[in-house]
Amino acid sequence: MMGSGTTLVEALLAERKPIGFDTDPLAIRIAKAKTMDLDKPKVLETGNAILNSVYQRPIDQRDQLREEYHSNWDSNTSKFVNYWFHSKTQGDLCTLMNEIRRIPDETLRTFFEIIFSAIIITKSGGVSVALDLAHTRPHRAKILHDSNGDILWGKEKLDQPSARLPFLSKKLRPVFDEFSNRFQRNFANLPDLKTDHPIPEIKYGNAKNIPLAENSIDLIVTSPPYASNAIDYIRAHKFSLIWMGFSVNELAQRRSRTIGGESTAGMKFEKLPSYTRHVIQGIEDCDPKKGRVLHRYYSEMTQVLREMYRILKPGKVAILVVGSSNMRGRDTETGECLTEIGRKIGFDVPAIGIRNIDRNRRMMPVGAKLSKDSQIQKRMHQEFVIGFLKMIGEGLGIAG
Ligand SMILES: C[S@@+](CC[C@H](N)C(=O)[O-])C[C@H]1O[C@@H](n2cnc3c(N)ncnc32)[C@H](O)[C@@H]1O
Repeated sequence: MMGSGTTLVEALLAERKPIGFDTDPLAIRIAKAKTMDLDKPKVLETGNAILNSVYQRPIDQRDQLREEYHSNWDSNTSKFVNYWFHSKTQGDLCTLMNEIRRIPDETLRTFFEIIFSAIIITKSGGVSVALDLAHTRPHRAKILHDSNGDILWGKEKLDQPSARLPFLSKKLRPVFDEFSNRFQRNFANLPDLKTDHPIPEIKYGNAKNIPLAENSIDLIVTSPPYASNAIDYIRAHKFSLIWMGFSVNELAQRRSRTIGGESTAGMKFEKLPSYTRHVIQGIEDCDPKKGRVLHRYYSEMTQVLREMYRILKPGKVAILVVGSSNMRGRDTETGECLTEIGRKIGFDVPAIGIRNIDRNRRMMPVGAKLSKDSQIQKRMHQEFVIGFLKMIGEGLGIAG
């Protein structure tokens, strides 16, 4: 659950050897791009070579590439691309990705894949025809203009004046210009990591079944997803991952393994301690389905905490940064419940810190009407920083 790898960069700056796992292929790429040594002159040379080549590519060749990509995609993925990307944009994106795929060096290729992704996954949906993409349910623009301002679809809507029109409209951004701007920005922000730093280990890994030996880890720092798909990473990241060779079906599979998901079919529910059961019951009384979703979440987090207990060396600590969710107006009390579950597993919890989140910097709105007095809104702007200590000589509490 390393996400974009912020903690790994901090570990490197502290000259510690970081190991990071995630189930999201884009998170893995972002973390790699952030922590790998990149030869800056080589990055510049490669970026300029890509831009020179794509700007010179004749339109008909771009369209040909587009057909090639569609012939390689399964029907679901092809349909997804045609729904969310205008045909004019598709040819340019194929042309760009074609150049990026040719980069032999994996680290360099990953760096440019992240720039490619960043021109798609933005709050406003970037070069796709989606509106509000980043981390909410994306909507398709009802009125679309090309980058010169000419109308591409939705002309009839213009004849029906409405205050919502600006929120339904979108102007396509020129793909290569967007890529060039983003390249300059990411190049300028390349971190100056010392070259002799420990080599980070970054790979696909499910936190419910961590591919590491027991008693092998000195410190764990992570921020698990919130309960009930608060932020649906793969749903947004799909918009760029499909250009990197992932199919829509495969990503749906991975999404189902994401902690905090909403499907409970075939779910292995864990036996949970009393207070956590009480919190779930409170939500189940209002909404049985939501209750099961929360039971899924705390079952998954029990499996994760159990794995953390197994891999940590005795006397070492796991730090979890996590916030509560609001389900049917009720607080999931994530800090309290994870503490109770952790203690049941055998951890000591010597300390719980509170991190206030800047309301304006939140990814997800917490309800349209802002009320400073609402306890639940107050709680939604705090994250818990929970310290789990694996005590020396203690055994595992809640067994698998
Ligand atoms: C809150 S984010 C981490 C954010 C991170 N702190 C950052 O700075 O970007 C949670 C991460 O957990 C990952 N995740 C969800 N389920 C997982 C699982 N079963 N195993 C490993 N990672 C998982 C998600 O893909 C996401 O990247």
